Amino acid sequence: MKTYTLDLDEVDTLVNEVVSTFTKGIIILRGDLACGKTTFVKKMVLKLGYKDEVTSPTFSLQQCYGEKIFHYDIYNHGLEHFIALGMLEELEKEGLHFVEWGDKKLENILKNAGMEVLVIEIKKTVNDIREYKVTHA
Ligand SMILES: Nc1ncnc2c1ncn2[C@@H]1O[C@H](COP(=O)(O)OP(=O)(O)OP(=O)(O)O)[C@@H](O)[C@H]1O
Ligand SMILES: [Mg+2]
Repeated sequence: MKTYTLDLDEVDTLVNEVVSTFTKGIIILRGDLACGKTTFVKKMVLKLGYKDEVTSPTFSLQQCYGEKIFHYDIYNHGLEHFIALGMLEELEKEGLHFVEWGDKKLENILKNAGMEVLVIEIKKTVNDIREYKVTHA
């Protein structure tokens, strides 16, 4: 596990590292409301060369940028609903998948299925700086 303490302008440091080390699989993003999950996805997608506007897929279940980048937000659906709609199969598609609010249960399901999973836990600290705990299990 690696920890980073970054303000908004410094997030690119982590983005650069993830882009060069984790090229396919599922990136689970956890943390309180407005901690910066979507912001991280936005910066990753830009770095990967897609200018498409990244927004939180709060009501849609899935957003795609290009053909190999997928973005989900489980907050409004719940894991059971997400699974019932067949989203585990979507996560098996080749490419990079970002899942906001993916919990420990989802993490375990994916790992047990042999999928590559990177977990990023974001915490608000003082002065608008965030702490990122990154675990590649
Ligand atoms: N590293 C950072 N340092 C300071 N501010 C940040 C950082 N990352 C994101 N922010 C700011 O936090 C706010 C919320 O960001 P964002 O919408 O990405 O959060 P979120 O976790 O996706 O929220 P939600 O839980 O609603 O999906 C934005 O104003 C964004 O600019
Ligand atoms: Mg969000």
